[in-house]
Amino acid sequence: MKIAIILGTRPEIVKMSPVIRSCSRRSIGFSIIHTGQHYSYEMDRIFFRDLELPDAAYNLEVGSGTHGAQTARMLTGLEKILMEDPHDVVLVQGDTNTVLAGALAASKLGITLGHVEAGLRSYDRSMPEEINRIVADHLSDLLFAPTKTAAANLRKEGRPDSGILVTGNTVVDAVIQNLSIAARDRSIFSNLGVEEGKYVLVTAHRQENVDRRENLSGILKGIDLVSSEFGVPVLYPIHPRTKKMIGHFNIQVPGNVRLLEPLGYFEFLLLEASARLVLTDSGGIQEECCILKTPCVTMRNNTERPETIDVGGNVLAGTDPGAILSGAKVMDLRPRTWENPFGDGKSGDRILRHLQETLTC
Ligand code: UD1
Ligand code: UDP
Repeated sequence: MKIAIILGTRPEIVKMSPVIRSCSRRSIGFSIIHTGQHYSYEMDRIFFRDLELPDAAYNLEVGSGTHGAQTARMLTGLEKILMEDPHDVVLVQGDTNTVLAGALAASKLGITLGHVEAGLRSYDRSMPEEINRIVADHLSDLLFAPTKTAAANLRKEGRPDSGILVTGNTVVDAVIQNLSIAARDRSIFSNLGVEEGKYVLVTAHRQENVDRRENLSGILKGIDLVSSEFGVPVLYPIHPRTKKMIGHFNIQVPGNVRLLEPLGYFEFLLLEASARLVLTDSGGIQEECCILKTPCVTMRNNTERPETIDVGGNVLAGTDPGAILSGAKVMDLRPRTWENPFGDGKSGDRILRHLQETLTC
């Protein structure tokens, strides 16, 4: 069996890393095919370095562009590679344009397609990710759903039970595999001049948030309110999309918000684990906070990760400044006693075992 692992962005590298490690442990042949959707050192190479991943066998270097142009470049490149270098199965993870292109390429070529993190739904089709998830789930032969809720979403859409396996989310594997390694070097706190537990950590990069002036301003004002009310500094490792849009809209960043370059996985994981509170619109960070028992406020009106809210680790606040502050106050007082709903950290192995059982017999 030879597996093509298609990835292209920061969260895919993190969440595919347990799958890659499991392939290596089991001596299963695999190729990493990188689309090059993310390419800046701090959005790409730094994760291969931190996670000690093998280099990609191929990198399409598609770079940035409109959704159509970017996806088309990926599709053309992926089809060529998969035709010239046959693989038995293609794995994609999550909901990016890389996933959309990978799913299309594999299914058109009749290659078995597995979707890791299948079945998530925000039920908001204005999000590009929701379109990508739906297409990938409906083209996939093997649906690796992280939770029972995700599996139920797939069944509701008529996906056959025989193709669905509840695996847990590989993000748990990644946190467990890396937190103790990350904790060996705690110099990030002194380097940033913050005390553990005494800062708020922020990320925001969703297209529907940061490409709209009103929403981006609301987020920055909300962060400012939280910082003043709590009397703690705000650390904001800024995504390149958001940096670009702050410049484009010429928005003033509040003085108490410390903008940082995007951080490596180890440094970010440590900051997340020790934050008083996290404000975010990221999918993966909602999950990681829930696992790390760090209170999270999600600056969106919906989430495809309802489990984080159901267990009590997360609230939705949208982008209104007052609602962000209210959400922060609620989560700050909440006891950190919730259960992790995303599995036992053995999802990568479960996925590989299933592939070995179903494809080699
Ligand atoms: C993409 C995914 C999103 C995911 C996010 C993870 C889609 C539709 N979106 O969003 O689901 O949550 O990745 O971070 O696939 N840029 C750089 N360097 C890079 C990459 C991007 O400077 O390495 C800048 C470019 O100006 C680019 C912009 O960021 O235009 C957006 O990049 P893009 O990959 O299109 O989308 P993301 O916002 O990163
Ligand atoms: N992350 C990181 N450095 C940062 C911000 C995020 O290492 O400065 C990691 C984070 O721990 C998580 C992943 O990147 O594993 C989330 O990526 P992102 O928020 O870009 O994407 P999403 O999960 O929303 O698709």
